[in-house]
Amino acid sequence: MDNSKRDQLVAAAWKARENSYSPYSKFKVGAAVLGEDGRIYTGANIENMSYGATICGERCALFTMVAAGCRKYLGIAIATELNEDGAPCLACRQVMTEFCSSLDIPVFMATPNKGVFEHTLREIAPLPCMPGSLPPDKK
Ligand code: THU
Repeated sequence: MDNSKRDQLVAAAWKARENSYSPYSKFKVGAAVLGEDGRIYTGANIENMSYGATICGERCALFTMVAAGCRKYLGIAIATELNEDGAPCLACRQVMTEFCSSLDIPVFMATPNKGVFEHTLREIAPLPCMPGSLPPDKK
């Protein structure tokens, strides 16, 4: 992905973070994915008083893309107050692998003070369990 698309994705993630509904944790997360259709889809964490019903920003963005009919994405940006160790939770990594166009796509973790850290999806989701892992008769 070129730098201008990366910057666009990161900016969209910060903007999406503004719509975070997080009255319980007070921890805002925004995410943006670049769909294979060239569109940027965004999401934010949405919490619930029944805590378990909360959805993370990453999955919100991906599900928004899928609900719009796009099944693959080319990269994701996540904007939080944390530093690099605030990487996506494992449930989000699982969903990120389900819809990725490749395991080599970039994952941009944007921080307020330390800039943007870049990893590949493969780096943060090693040994993935994804659609291709199913035996041929179950696909
Ligand atoms: N959260 C995310 O949105 N993404 C993650 O990868 C980890 C956690 C949210 C869930 C909850 O609303 C808040 O951050 C605190 O855990």
